[in-house]
Amino acid sequence: MKKAIVSPSLLAADFADFGGALKIIEAAGASWAHLDVMDGHFVPNLTFGWQLVKSLRGRSALFLDVHLMVADPGRFIRDFAEAGADGITFHAEAAVHSAKLLSEIKALGKKAGISVVPSTPVSMLEELLPMADLVLVMTVNPGFGGQVLIPGCLEKVKKLAAIRQERGLDFLISVDGGINGETALQARSLGADVLVMGSSFFGAEDQAAIVKAAGG
Ligand code: DX5
Ligand code: ZN
Repeated sequence: MKKAIVSPSLLAADFADFGGALKIIEAAGASWAHLDVMDGHFVPNLTFGWQLVKSLRGRSALFLDVHLMVADPGRFIRDFAEAGADGITFHAEAAVHSAKLLSEIKALGKKAGISVVPSTPVSMLEELLPMADLVLVMTVNPGFGGQVLIPGCLEKVKKLAAIRQERGLDFLISVDGGINGETALQARSLGADVLVMGSSFFGAEDQAAIVKAAGG
């Protein structure tokens, strides 16, 4: 199996020390950091905006993996790109013109990602897959860290991996929500490339061991 990309989620870090969180991620040997942007509309919680990306960009060369859980994501794409995000993922459920947004993200020189919540089928992405660099499968209902993975969601990883092969596409498959040592391996065996880990990473005593166990 090829190496996985582990993307620890800052949602589970100390909100008074995000700079320190990036150092913990680097020391653990992970190469991405996941930033969950929540607006209190698309999801029932609030986090942070592009200003955090701008501050962190100056401190680290980690791939900044921005996950927009916001209504009307098109309003914020340019701000996050200019702040220094490396990848920008938005929700298919929140956008009317997803294809346009994917090409906007790419035109800004960033990796373009699209995500679906647990109740949205993979079929909704059919036309968009050739344009996506990353497909993020939410494996919990978005809004909060520390939830238990909804097992049925992993079926979507399997479906996406099959479609990717059949259609000769090359998007990365990311899983987000309830990913720990055990579920990481399940997701990887079904075709996931990127493992977002919040509480299982920041709650671990030995973060490097968690990254290694997940195959990163
Ligand atoms: C949930 C977020 C996740 C969250 C995952 O809405 O999108 O990225 O940080 O947290 P854990 O890994 O604790 O489930
Ligand atoms: Zn996320």
